[in-house]
Amino acid sequence: MESKKVFVLGSINVDLVVYAEHFPEKGETVFGKEFLINQGGKGANQAVASKKASGDTTFIGRVGKDIFGKIAEDSLKSFGVDYFLIHDEDTQTGVALINVDKEGNNRITIIEGANGKVGKEEIDYLEENIKSGDILLLQGEIETTELLKAAKIAKDKDALVIFDPAPVRKDLVSIIPYVDYVTPNEIELQKLTLSSDPKELLKFGAKNVIFKMGEKGVLFINESKELFVKAYSVNAIDTTGAGDTFNGSFASALSKNVEIEKALKFATASAAISVTRKGAAISSPTYEEIIKFLEEHHEKFI
Ligand code: RIB
Repeated sequence: MESKKVFVLGSINVDLVVYAEHFPEKGETVFGKEFLINQGGKGANQAVASKKASGDTTFIGRVGKDIFGKIAEDSLKSFGVDYFLIHDEDTQTGVALINVDKEGNNRITIIEGANGKVGKEEIDYLEENIKSGDILLLQGEIETTELLKAAKIAKDKDALVIFDPAPVRKDLVSIIPYVDYVTPNEIELQKLTLSSDPKELLKFGAKNVIFKMGEKGVLFINESKELFVKAYSVNAIDTTGAGDTFNGSFASALSKNVEIEKALKFATASAAISVTRKGAAISSPTYEEIIKFLEEHHEKFI
């Protein structure tokens, strides 16, 4: 099967994760049950998910010169992700403080650190390496100006761009006309368009919308087609990074030239598996695990 390269330009963090019965209320102190330190960051999570789903994947980003930078880089290495990583002398590595409750819901605060300095070196690397037919994954955890440059370079080179507008901010709408797929969840759609109708995004120049509706499933929309893929019913223990797993796996599937419906089912299955495990990148499944899951649900990928 001919395979294309997947590039991910974006954030890389270290996640400090606390599992507890419930989120602390304002002014309340609660006992947690478990504490984990994991590599995170929406960009790096998507790169790991793509690689685990057998995509030929390169991550492009920036860490600080601190112990968290080493933890994050070691994680990319351990998953076999190719990477171009700047080690910034003057900045700390991005950090995420994550609370997970007993239903698997999360609340995340990020300190962007080095992610906020992703710039010329990373963009130059992308420009030198991305080729026609390759895939670029973008998210909202680096500066909008850099996202715009990256998307325009990819389009000039005739590569495919998938954009996850998370964490959402209004100015991310400026990226939408330059991407092939935009993948908001319900909150992101509302903030971008002030509407709950994913078709609204077509008015902002979106070519293809993949509307992520969590445990309900995903809705694919463009000017001529509408396709709903139902989510698989699983016992969720940690939904952190489920959207990242979806996007990384979707990119990996597209890199193998599969049709859109199969790619959506592959990514939906991957996200379903990930929420049954703790952590973000670490919870994303391998290609074999996704295929097995699909077969158990009477679906075929190839
Ligand atoms: O999407 C989940 C990710 O968001 C976490 O890994 C955290 O680092 C934040 O970037």
